[in-house]
Amino acid sequence: MKSVAIAGATGAVGQEFLSILAERNFPLKSLKLLASSRSAGKKIKFKDEEITVQELKHDSFDGIDLVLSSAGGSISKEYMPSAVKAGAVVVDNTSYFRMNPEVPLVIPEINPQDIKKHKGIIANPNCSTIIMLLPIFPLYKAFGIERVQACTYQAASGAGAMAMEELRLESVALAEGKPFKRTVIPYQYAFNLFPHNSSYNDGSSEKNAVHAPNGYCEEEWKMIAETHKIFGDDNLRVNASCVRVPVLRAHSEALNVKLSKKTNVAEIYEVLRSAPGVEILEETSKNRWPMPIDASGKDPVLVGRVRVDQSQDNAFDMWVVGDQIRKGAALNAVQIAELL
Ligand code: A2P
Repeated sequence: MKSVAIAGATGAVGQEFLSILAERNFPLKSLKLLASSRSAGKKIKFKDEEITVQELKHDSFDGIDLVLSSAGGSISKEYMPSAVKAGAVVVDNTSYFRMNPEVPLVIPEINPQDIKKHKGIIANPNCSTIIMLLPIFPLYKAFGIERVQACTYQAASGAGAMAMEELRLESVALAEGKPFKRTVIPYQYAFNLFPHNSSYNDGSSEKNAVHAPNGYCEEEWKMIAETHKIFGDDNLRVNASCVRVPVLRAHSEALNVKLSKKTNVAEIYEVLRSAPGVEILEETSKNRWPMPIDASGKDPVLVGRVRVDQSQDNAFDMWVVGDQIRKGAALNAVQIAELL
């Protein structure tokens, strides 16, 4: 039994932590909910209890065994060292510690062995990376990979609970022809899309937390750099183009994979059918493939439309959809906690 604290408990991922801990009957001795001073005193239901949210402070972690943290990179940077000092293990959902060589970056279906190397903090990968790698890893094991090209179609949930609410309100306002003042997302989001708004590297790489090369945005470079770290293979050729689309939750990705060992579509389906955390969802006769609404609130990453890329030798396209808040964030973190 563990005493657990959730940092960022009122956020989109924080709320999902609560559902997943309850659903999976995580062995809890106690549960502490932490957020900003704005939320202190607010009551949140967990199972049959009402738990009062407390303000996150440096001394919030006395007696805590495990912290599930999802309040943003700067908050993790500031407060998670205090949690480790107090003796807790932190599973951190932000990007702040991910590329730190001292911090394991873990997807339990792929590199659970790395958890053992932790020194107090384990990082949860970027949501688009997790969703891409669940189907890619079994193909890498079975056939070897020469190159992966990912194009993402990312939901509002990746920008947090307030971005989801803003998309809802903006959609209603625009449908009714009313003006709308945005405060979270910088551009019109409803009935529109835009290249991912994570920081763009104009050449001064100091600005960019993950040192994306010139022209990439941070989200794209996360998918590349994190894949290398999780697979322990810096030579794997990965490329990504990230786009935000006006979907509330669940990211979609079009993946193009060039494999090393000669194979075919039937063998790829066979590997994916037995891949942990992956589910094939398609009804070819109805032209029906995975959609964000199919994945929302669900655990597996859904795959469909595996087909031969006619322009290259031994390359295949596939369509992948996964719930950004669940497997892309909270579920992956709770799975890490369960392994701990
Ligand atoms: P709050 O609701 O009090 O602002 P999301 O990713 O959905 O936007 O959620 C962010 C989470 O991080 C929320 O729980 C939010 O709490 C929390 N948070 C934001 N700023 C701070 C802060 N300065 N200290 C503690 N928690 C914070």
